Amino acid sequence: MSKSKVFLHVFDEETSRAVNKLQGDGYISTLLGPIGTGKESYVFYSESFNNRKVAVKLHRHNIYSFKKIPAYIKLRGKKSGGFMKRINDWTRFEYNFLSKAHNLGVNSPEPIRCYENIIVMDFVGKDGIPSKPAIKDKSFDVEMWYTSIIGFIIKMGRNDMIHGDLSPYNILNNGGNPYIIDFSQSLKLSIFTKDFLSRDIDNINNWFRSLGYKELKEKEVIFKEIGIENEI
Ligand SMILES: Nc1ncnc2c1ncn2[C@@H]1O[C@H](COP(=O)(O)OP(=O)(O)O)[C@@H](O)[C@H]1O
Ligand SMILES: [Mg+2]
Repeated sequence: MSKSKVFLHVFDEETSRAVNKLQGDGYISTLLGPIGTGKESYVFYSESFNNRKVAVKLHRHNIYSFKKIPAYIKLRGKKSGGFMKRINDWTRFEYNFLSKAHNLGVNSPEPIRCYENIIVMDFVGKDGIPSKPAIKDKSFDVEMWYTSIIGFIIKMGRNDMIHGDLSPYNILNNGGNPYIIDFSQSLKLSIFTKDFLSRDIDNINNWFRSLGYKELKEKEVIFKEIGIENEI
């Protein structure tokens, strides 16, 4: 990993202020990286005051991020705030879904702090090097991974939650174990959102089919295990 220091003027003023606040409160120190960049976010490596290794995800205050915000969050923020408020709301939703999944026992980074457009969570990796997404590091036990990931989908589903963007890009290979990240597209399971659950299951089944795995679970069986075949 390149450990270049990042100068905060690359961020907008509000983000720099939020970073300063988290640094002042001891949740993070210098940001190193970025270890991940996208149109919607930057992810950095840092350490907290007690040397806890953390990942710091900053949602960008830009139009690309805005486009990705689920419609229900855009609508919710409409009356009470502008662009930034909605990005911050979206960040809070992601944090809440990550917290929920983590509390359910889904392998995922432990959430630490959410402030404005920033999420601080446990760093998944070793010696400052983030674990690679499964799309890049295929050294895993395919059967164990399939069973675990479908188990996570079912556990979340039984608790009315859908990850919403499950793919080998958002599952890190952490020492041979699957770690689910990126709850930015997560949703509450309902009659209106069942298609997103369906898409997550298809993504996982298609991925494991491409790896040659033969014991795939039918979508209907998974729905049944979640307990939604009649109610939704
Ligand atoms: N908790 C974490 N520990 C280590 N690396 C992380 C963590 N969270 C994110 N990353 C890295 O940052 C990248 C982007 O994070 P992600 O949450 O998927 O953002 P995006 O919404 O932009 O896709 C990931 O692919 C991963 O490399
Ligand atoms: Mg992602």
